[in-house]
Amino acid sequence: MKKILVTGGAGYIGSVATYLLLQKAYEVVVIDNFSTGHEEVLKFFNTKYPKNFKYYKADLQKRETIKEALDKEKEFDAVLHYAASCLVNESMENPAKYFTNNVIGSQNLFSELIEHSIKNIVFSSTCAVYGEAQYVPVDEKHPTNPANPYGESKRMIELMLQWYGKLGKLNYVILRYFNVCGASDDGEVGDSKDPSVLLMQNAVRGALGIESFYLTCPEVDTPDKTPIRDYINVVDLNEAHLGALDYLINGGKSEIINLGTGTGNSVLEIVTTVEKITGKKLDRKKTEARKGEYAKMIADTSKAKTVLGWEPKRTISDSVNSLVKWYKNHPQGW
Ligand SMILES: NC(=O)c1ccc[n+]([C@@H]2O[C@H](COP(=O)([O-])OP(=O)(O)OC[C@H]3O[C@@H](n4cnc5c(N)ncnc54)[C@H](O)[C@@H]3O)[C@@H](O)[C@H]2O)c1
Repeated sequence: MKKILVTGGAGYIGSVATYLLLQKAYEVVVIDNFSTGHEEVLKFFNTKYPKNFKYYKADLQKRETIKEALDKEKEFDAVLHYAASCLVNESMENPAKYFTNNVIGSQNLFSELIEHSIKNIVFSSTCAVYGEAQYVPVDEKHPTNPANPYGESKRMIELMLQWYGKLGKLNYVILRYFNVCGASDDGEVGDSKDPSVLLMQNAVRGALGIESFYLTCPEVDTPDKTPIRDYINVVDLNEAHLGALDYLINGGKSEIINLGTGTGNSVLEIVTTVEKITGKKLDRKKTEARKGEYAKMIADTSKAKTVLGWEPKRTISDSVNSLVKWYKNHPQGW
């Protein structure tokens, strides 16, 4: 049985990952400080999978708390590193939080992994490292030029990992996610951010009457004048992580890989899909646009297919349906 350490397993993407790993009979240990994550989801895993699951409250900014957990839990096959602060707007207001929590937190983690002879790591990076796309679809060779401290903090961590890779201390797969959406297929595990900052989550919450929904996108140069993004389902995304784990455990060399669908959807298309599935007309009231929004961001996903043998399977409608189930069961999240 493979044993995996998951950082940030109480958050949105990490909790869906943990659920998937447990369903596939991995042994999982989560570390999280519950700053944006929720202990309730870990208690749910404890009840459902008592033999294969454990968690520790640990803060990546306090290296001794990582050490304590790793001293107790030896012999990991690999690490999935999701823990981070990840709000773009917040990073513009408080860059220090992002450089401290993300960069220094990750450095503490890497030091402890090396101390404990744990070599394989899959890192959650983001398309925000590219900044505004100079061409689409964006492949991994696209220049990196982050437009906010959040993206910069991720680029800094990528650079650190690349040095640890070169020096033979860590083997990594850096996964650059595009726009993550949806919940677990059965709607049992999902996003608890309140209010949500993600479009599809927001639109579904609006349609179910959980919160008001406003369009916050600027007018841009696309056919329907709303930004086009690449929406990747959270289970598909995490299945790619399982592929990355196998790849590293079987001796694959360190790589940087985009995770998206390769197709773009406009903000209006997402809103219309939510309306169609829920039968609810959404208020199109516009509020002030988020700063730094660009017209089009779509991933070139060919590397994920060649290196990991992975392709996304779920549609935009599948993601909306999973969110409807999730928010009906958990209107306020965990
Ligand atoms: N949500 C997206 O669309 C998206 C897109 C690209 C990349 N990502 C990346 O995916 C990862 C997960 O994102 P998410 O949406 O699940 O965010 P989230 O906020 O829901 O989850 C982050 C988790 O990390 C934990 N955490 C934060 N700082 C910590 C620390 N110092 N010590 C221990 N735990 C800590 C939080 O408590 C939380 O449980 C992040 O690294 C993020 O940058 C997310």
